[in-house]
Order: sequence, then structure tokens, then C-alpha cells
Amino acid sequence: MSRLKVAVLISGRGSNLQALIEACRTPGFPAEIVLVLSNNPAAAGLRLATDAGIQSATVDHRDFSDRDAFEAAIDSQLRDRGVELVCLAGFMRLLTPDFVDRWRDHLINIHPSLLPAFKGLDTHERVLAAGARLSGCTVHFVRADMDDGPIILQAAVPVHDGDDPGALAARILNAEHRCYPAALRLIAEGRVKVVGDRVAVDTAPASGMLFSAPA
Ligand code: GRF
Repeated sequence: MSRLKVAVLISGRGSNLQALIEACRTPGFPAEIVLVLSNNPAAAGLRLATDAGIQSATVDHRDFSDRDAFEAAIDSQLRDRGVELVCLAGFMRLLTPDFVDRWRDHLINIHPSLLPAFKGLDTHERVLAAGARLSGCTVHFVRADMDDGPIILQAAVPVHDGDDPGALAARILNAEHRCYPAALRLIAEGRVKVVGDRVAVDTAPASGMLFSAPA
């Protein structure tokens, strides 16, 4: 069976990368990580790739005069390795509409809120300030606008009285580590289709979590 060739783009810690690495090690998992790419040479996640024996590369945005040149360098790394799907996992550079279009429906992201609510940074602070009772994470196809695009999978977690941003982030991160591999599996199995602005999934994954995969 040929496995979907995946690149994971990171900027920092890489805990979602680690969850994806572990998933891809599961016998029969339909995807393999062929490249881990960071814009930040100091990203801790690069070490996780090395430890797992996965090829990694750094494309430091500070080495390029403009965004197009930076993205052309990323693009050529991806093409050189035959990447079929790009997973953003804490990648902290905004991508241009050109790049997003080139990888349309082959580029996914995880965001730590129940999109379309709470796009952007400082998510957990804003969730707590709003008094929301639920938050969670969303895996979605990337579109030109930040944290926008067809939703593949979501997991909801409760917001507890007395939560601070760190406690809520940790609870959501735990959900992210299940949600991202589950979304990758669905895509790699060819069960995800983009229909207009929405995603159709032919079977929802079995799970005890509050997953939502719009049909
Ligand atoms: C995660 O919370 C992810 O949702 C967000 O950035 C964070 C990355 O964490 N996009 P890690 O580097 O995967 O640990």
C-alpha cells in the first residue's frame, strides 16, 4: 500500500508533530512524514524529527528578502520530496494567497479553538474573557484568510471554572494530539472531500470525544 507523503511545518515545540510521528508509526497507518520543515532554526521540534529518523530542513525567513522568495524555498523543498499533503503544526508565518492556492486542498492546519470562533492569537485568554463553556480544536484546510477554511474535524473540551489560559491550553492540546492524527488518517484514506466551503467525510471516526465532521 502506498502511503500519503506528508510534510509537517513547525516553528517551535512540536508536540503536534510528535503526535503525528507516533500515529505514522502505527502499523497500517496510511500516511508517512517525509519532511519536517521549520522557519526557526531553534525550533525544539526539529530534534523530534531527528530522533525519529525523519528528514528535516530549516528555511529561515530572515535569510530571504521577501515572502515570495521564502515561500519559493519552502515550495521547492516540498516538491523535491514528493510531498502530497502539508500539515501546519504551530507554524508561525502567515502564508501568501499564492502559496495557499498552489497547495489548495493539500494544506491543513490545526487551531486551538472551535472555529470559526476565536481565530488568531491569544485564543485561550479570549475564550476565558468571553465566558465560553466549551472550547477545543479544529483541523481545517487552509485558505488565504487566517484560520479560515473548510473544517475537517473538531474536538470540544469543557472550560472549567477557575481555568487559567495555561490550564485550558493544556486540556485543548491533549485533544489536538488526538484530533490531528485522526484528521490525517481520514484524508490519507481518501475519505475527505471538499465540497464548496465545506468538507464531506464519508464516515465519522469512532471516538469517545466530541468529534464533529460535517457531512
Ligand atoms: C498548537 O496549540 C496549535 O494548535 C497551534 O500552535 C500550537 C503548536 O504547538 N497552531 P506544538 O508546537 O504542536 O506543541
